[in-house]
Amino acid sequence: MIKVMFVCLGNICRSPTAQGVFSGLVKARGLDDKIFVDSSGTSNWHIGEPPDPRSVAMALERGVDLSSLRGSQVTREDFDTFDYILAMDKQNLSNLRAIAPADYTGHLDLFLRFDASSQVEEVPDPYYGGESGFIHVVDLIEAASEGLLQHIVDHKF
Ligand code: 4NP
Repeated sequence: MIKVMFVCLGNICRSPTAQGVFSGLVKARGLDDKIFVDSSGTSNWHIGEPPDPRSVAMALERGVDLSSLRGSQVTREDFDTFDYILAMDKQNLSNLRAIAPADYTGHLDLFLRFDASSQVEEVPDPYYGGESGFIHVVDLIEAASEGLLQHIVDHKF
């Protein structure tokens, strides 16, 4: 089983969207018995909370239901479990690097690195902005999810 975790700041906007979109893709390709998908936040601000209603609505427009997800905070132990720990932006990647065990052998990186055609490196925080920010988030995530799945298939099975 390949285990993938998406990480943002609050775990209520970007990373749950990535979890839902990528899980949907994995399921559609019949790989859900081979790839486990989760998400969490670097902050503890929204532990136990459902995703932001704006993210839930935006994902639903793309056929993805985020309503059952709940916020969690990333821990050092997650590095023992996950083969891919993918940050939405550089600040979150830096915070992850600060808690990662020195001998972590998985992929700790920016999620958008898996979209070779992406014009940007980071999925911007949409929390304090308007609807267009949430649309941009889901567009970036859909593109990078395709690239990530291709990478995993090419490298692991
Ligand atoms: P996320 O967005 O990191 O994509 O979940 C945010 C959610 C909440 C806050 C900031 C960003 N906040 O300040 O509470």
